[in-house]
Amino acid sequence: MKVTAIANSNIALVKYWGKRNEELNLPFNNSISFTMDDQLQTVTTVEFDEKLKKDKVILDGVEANERESARAVKFLDVIRKMAKIKLNAIVVSKNSFPKSAGLASSASGFAALAAAASKAAGLNLTPRELSMLARIGSGSACRSVFGGAVEWRAGKKRDGSDSYAFQLSPPEDWRDLRNVIAIVSEDEKKVSSMEGMKRVKNSALFSCRLKTINERLRVIRNAIKTHNFAEMANAIMQESNNLHAVMLDSWPPVSYLSDVSLEIIKKVIELNESFAEPVAAYTFDAGPNAHIYTTLKHCNEIVKILKDINGVKRIIVCGIGEGIRFSDKHLF
Ligand code: DP6
Repeated sequence: MKVTAIANSNIALVKYWGKRNEELNLPFNNSISFTMDDQLQTVTTVEFDEKLKKDKVILDGVEANERESARAVKFLDVIRKMAKIKLNAIVVSKNSFPKSAGLASSASGFAALAAAASKAAGLNLTPRELSMLARIGSGSACRSVFGGAVEWRAGKKRDGSDSYAFQLSPPEDWRDLRNVIAIVSEDEKKVSSMEGMKRVKNSALFSCRLKTINERLRVIRNAIKTHNFAEMANAIMQESNNLHAVMLDSWPPVSYLSDVSLEIIKKVIELNESFAEPVAAYTFDAGPNAHIYTTLKHCNEIVKILKDINGVKRIIVCGIGEGIRFSDKHLF
């Protein structure tokens, strides 16, 4: 049976960084994200077929490289074991954005693959089970199973059975929230998230981060519930700064922000100072591209500021999007 699933990428306000178990992608702390709209999505078709001698993975029209393919095969092995099947699969996947653009293609990629492959293997997973499965592919993918605002519960169990995402509020709940994305670099990152998260264990600041993160989670959770942008804005920016400070404190050091990223930070702070309350909040993942949260009212102003910054290559204005969906439009 051929199955096609669609998943959108997500961007965290409180970040997942550091693994208590690398095999199962179990984090130290909860994280909170918004799922992005359909501009940033992955469509994946999977079919298990007895005629195939090995798995075949096609990403954006070309055969996956060795690293990508090994990661996909390892993930398919998890699904085969769950479904008690031995068949090989063909996986065809298409991103609506360049894989290398630093826009978290692993989140939408593994969420779509988990959904399509598990169904194609005959499994009928609940959203929670799907989230746990997607997490094994890539941690942040567990949040892309759901739309709107999403929290990933870190859990405590060693087998990961209490580490999954759940929806805090649906996409239509906060209609005028926007994420203005400034693409600064389309180069593939030099230090992968996986490697960066290994190095963070050498950071003395990391334990301090874990002590303060619950309060940030509480503030952001509450602001999402009450649509209080000003309340969550400072927490978002402090969280991003804290993450990047911890990255720099890792050994060997990890640094993802560029001069252009720092210029964007400066401009957002200046903009907020010109108002009586914060109207924009920047956040950066493991790369130099900026995600600036704001409300519809201030969106054009932020686009204008970003356009004037030397080094900003592309701007995407993104709303809040949906979780996993299935489609009849197969890719092969
Ligand atoms: C900075 O989910 O890509 O974007 O589990 O190793 O695949 P793996 O890592 P990944 O890491 C995402 C890190 C982040 C923060 C976040 O999305 O929470």
